[in-house]
Amino acid sequence: MQFFTALILALPTLGLAQLSNNNLGSRPVQRGVITSAQALQAINAAAAHASNISVAESIAIVDPSGNLVAYLRQDNSWPAAFDIATKKARTVAGFNGAFTSAGLYNGTQPGGAFWGLENTNSGLVVFAGGTPIFVGDRFIGAIGVSGGSVDQDAAIAEAGAKAIGTTA
Ligand SMILES: *[C@@H]1O[C@H](CO)[C@@H](O)[C@H](O)[C@H]1NC(C)=O
Ligand SMILES: *[C@@H]1O[C@H](CO)[C@@H](O)[C@H](O)[C@H]1NC(C)=O
Repeated sequence: MQFFTALILALPTLGLAQLSNNNLGSRPVQRGVITSAQALQAINAAAAHASNISVAESIAIVDPSGNLVAYLRQDNSWPAAFDIATKKARTVAGFNGAFTSAGLYNGTQPGGAFWGLENTNSGLVVFAGGTPIFVGDRFIGAIGVSGGSVDQDAAIAEAGAKAIGTTA
């Protein structure tokens, strides 16, 4: 009986915790999670763009926790690109979509404020090709693309993200 009373008293507190904003990114209730259908749609749009400019890409989609939701390795994509694409997407997810992977580049150069950041979290990738995906004000996941030049990767990631939402 005492246990249940305690639980009932605790529940509103848990609810308030979900609603409170600690100013360190999106609140849990503001987040959404990409569906597998959305992830496939983003991959197809990115792959179409990649084929159009004749570059073989590896394309990873992760949820807001950085877990892989969908992946496509286009024929002849570099073997190394699987890991790079996945880590670009995870890098974006690790900061709630506040930065593209390219947005972390300057700060991680020698002498930069975040120098060494890429060595955390079992390896991050801090150059272009990782892009957040937002729907409304919700960060639902991220796309990472690797295989072309950084400019190609970034453009293809953006095309994938924009097929289902926005990039900011
Ligand atoms: C492919 O390229 C053509 C010509 O530039 C463009 O009109 C078309 O929209 C592109 N399609 C995709 C999926 O990027
Ligand atoms: C990085 O630095 C370059 C050169 O100073 C600058 O042109 C560019 O806008 C910076 N990029 C970002 C994302 O801050």
